[in-house]
Amino acid sequence: MVAQRLDGKACAASVEDELHDRISACRSAGVEPHLSVVIVGDDPASHVYVNSKVKACERLGIKSTHISLPEDSTESEVREVIQRLNDDTSLHGILVQSPLPSHMDEEALTDLIHPGKDVDGFHPENLGRLVQGRLDGMLPCTPSGVMRMLQWAGIDLSGKQAVVLGRSRIVGNPQALLLGAKGADATVTIVHSRTNNAQAVCAQADIVVAAIGRPEMVRADWIKSGAVVVDVGINRVDDDSRERGWRLAGDVHPEVAQKAAWLSPVPGGVGPMTIAMLMENTVRAAEHVVAQ
Ligand code: GUN
Repeated sequence: MVAQRLDGKACAASVEDELHDRISACRSAGVEPHLSVVIVGDDPASHVYVNSKVKACERLGIKSTHISLPEDSTESEVREVIQRLNDDTSLHGILVQSPLPSHMDEEALTDLIHPGKDVDGFHPENLGRLVQGRLDGMLPCTPSGVMRMLQWAGIDLSGKQAVVLGRSRIVGNPQALLLGAKGADATVTIVHSRTNNAQAVCAQADIVVAAIGRPEMVRADWIKSGAVVVDVGINRVDDDSRERGWRLAGDVHPEVAQKAAWLSPVPGGVGPMTIAMLMENTVRAAEHVVAQ
């Protein structure tokens, strides 16, 4: 078996297409959707992600403001920026790129973002709504992008065994909630660093979402024949054969394509979906202002 490609790039393009009319409607009502992206420090991968987000805004005609703060900024400086953005009625979405430098309390800073502007869906109010099974709020972009991509490919999750590898605040935990929510209806197991015999648990699954940040850890013998495999990992690994000295690798080994029915590529899978869902959340936040 050679897996079909879960083409996140194509799915993201269709999500973006659907946003054009909604953005025009906001503009006609006098509201220009506006996203503010805050990045602290010099992490090269984070700068690449932030640039992709800003470029997506440009593509769609969403206004974006990119605020770049030095690595040695204090937590209270970042607080002040968030408070200023909360108070600015001309903008609808605030995203603070993770990870923040280690001297900052990332969760405390996320808590400060106004829940209506929390386009990442990381604020406790938005995550709390997700725990309650209310899916109409701001949903975290990567997990909701995975759900949208599965739906777009016509993959039915109802009654299926799903394994989420990883239990992070950004991906693993919300992903598990979305897969098990009413309407998706999968039976979900979270596999984490303390799980006994992770490989055997994973090998039972009809759907595997890998979000562990370990390059190519999920091998073919972790995967049931015919399973659906979504690779959330974006890892840089050294590769002297490349001019730049590194390549991107997912959490899933390429050999899995010989065993799975569906596999999302890296790059071109979950990455573009995360950005598309961020754009959708920003438009939704602007629509709330229009409706007020
Ligand atoms: N870092 C990696 N993924 C994300 C994301 O979805 N949002 C933010 N804010 N930071 C990230």
